[in-house]
Amino acid sequence: MSRLAYVNGRFVPHGDATVHVEDRGYQFADAVYEVWNVIDGRLADFDGHLQRLWRSLDELRIRRPMSAAALTSVLRETVRRNRLRHGLLYLQVSRGTARRDHPFPSPEVAPSVVATCKALDPAAQEAKARKGVAVVTQPDVRWGRCDIKTVSLLPNVLAKQAARERGAAEAWLVDDLGLVTEGSSTNAWIVDAEGVLRTRDTNCNILRGVTRHNLIEIAREVGVPLSEKPFTVEEAQAAKEAFFTAASAFLTPVVSIDGKQIGDGKPGPVTTKLRTLYFERAAENAI
Ligand code: PDD
Repeated sequence: MSRLAYVNGRFVPHGDATVHVEDRGYQFADAVYEVWNVIDGRLADFDGHLQRLWRSLDELRIRRPMSAAALTSVLRETVRRNRLRHGLLYLQVSRGTARRDHPFPSPEVAPSVVATCKALDPAAQEAKARKGVAVVTQPDVRWGRCDIKTVSLLPNVLAKQAARERGAAEAWLVDDLGLVTEGSSTNAWIVDAEGVLRTRDTNCNILRGVTRHNLIEIAREVGVPLSEKPFTVEEAQAAKEAFFTAASAFLTPVVSIDGKQIGDGKPGPVTTKLRTLYFERAAENAI
């Protein structure tokens, strides 16, 4: 079956799906996005991503393209028409199409809305998680509003490519003080030498991950000690366990950082337990 994309009110064959050359997402990265994990044909952590989408749009003063009910139906329909069982749903909303000029178009134009999805093999993901992955560090050179989920991802792309070229799955970004901020497309976590689960607080310049938020709730419920105190690369390398979170992977164990083995080089018990709990919870609540 051929893939379909949603583009501004219509479902079209994926290969023919296009936006205008003067779409502001294309020309200025004047656009925001969201990614949902699809479990057994249903959207995981649905509301968290929808609420963050509204916030990103509001922060950039891009008009909401449609109501929550209409958007929910477009997103579910994209999954349904593609007969997607397991994978990712991508949504992008740009400020719209207008003659190229930096200020917002006046009069206002309609935002562009695009939704696509791709299948992932759950067995391959599981095999990867059972082994754990490598991470390398890169300087965090991004702008000051990483809390907004914009498509302006060039520093993230370059960091991820640097990781790929060094045989790693993810790049952890490091600020001027030597503290880890987050991954290029994930949030970063460790179980530190004292057994405390740690991830960077969201008052600093990072994305407020939906998976991060939900995992904090789960960790609190099951009594895992937790702190949002930042950690250095050295602390991460000396940690008992490490992992990263995102809608694209939920929770992926990390077994080395810049070539230094973490713990015994295998996914640790806290990571494995939280990963299982996350999957169970996400599958239960998917819509
Ligand atoms: N990335 N930090 C960054 C920079 C991200 O791009 C992402 C998500 C996250 C995790 O957020 P969440 O748990 O809400 O997915 C953290 C998506 C998956 C992507 O760009 O494909």
